Amino acid sequence: MTPLVVGNWKMNLTAGEAIRLAGAIAREAPADTEIVLCPPAVWLVPVASQLAGSAVALGGQDCHQVGQGAHTGDIAARQLADAGCSHVILGHSERRANHGETDAQVAAKVSAAHDAGMVAIVCVGETADQRAGGDALPTVETQLRGSLPAGCDTGNTVVAYEPVWAIGTGAAASLDDIAAMHSHAGSVVSAHSDRLAGCRILYGGSVKPENSREILALDGVNGALVGGASLVAEDFLAIARAV
Ligand code: PGA
Repeated sequence: MTPLVVGNWKMNLTAGEAIRLAGAIAREAPADTEIVLCPPAVWLVPVASQLAGSAVALGGQDCHQVGQGAHTGDIAARQLADAGCSHVILGHSERRANHGETDAQVAAKVSAAHDAGMVAIVCVGETADQRAGGDALPTVETQLRGSLPAGCDTGNTVVAYEPVWAIGTGAAASLDDIAAMHSHAGSVVSAHSDRLAGCRILYGGSVKPENSREILALDGVNGALVGGASLVAEDFLAIARAV
């Protein structure tokens, strides 16, 4: 299975910064790792030009569940695909927390992404309170069951386990907790659908050059979803090379 490293640039970078970062990553990307960059939507087209001719793919950070119409400020899956995206991040915890996205909405977006021919990167993860209460595994299980619609298979869907408390904090989950959750998530998705047996499961939450090698070496970790460290070319490339 080819490992996958995804850079989630979130709401960062000016046009010039985005173009320079994409160019640097496209020039230096290791050939044996699949890489996807997810810039802010407004920079998708100029970043796509930088990635043209390289093996680095382009992704969106969200899409609307409906194909087109009166949804001011939203972006349809087909528009992302038309801009050159092969992937889209869906159900990120910042979307779930800041925009009230439910599992059912995430599932509808995943179907829209599939209809547009894109791979959905479906994010799940527990909060600090849920982990402290012993509910990490059941929380992620419920999110997985609710967020993965019937059309999901190993070709069109990637899961990203991102504990909410580890995102942007500098403190990743422990290796034992990551391994336990990835093993559980792997069982849940295969029980949910035969077509998801062997689905790639990424870890996200404070992945950096210093911890990437040991996280990515864990059984059941098939790559990383990287936020902060994806904004610096050398850091992101170091993570991609650590796979
Ligand atoms: P982080 O973000 O690497 O900055 O923790 C990860 C993410 O939110 O996808």
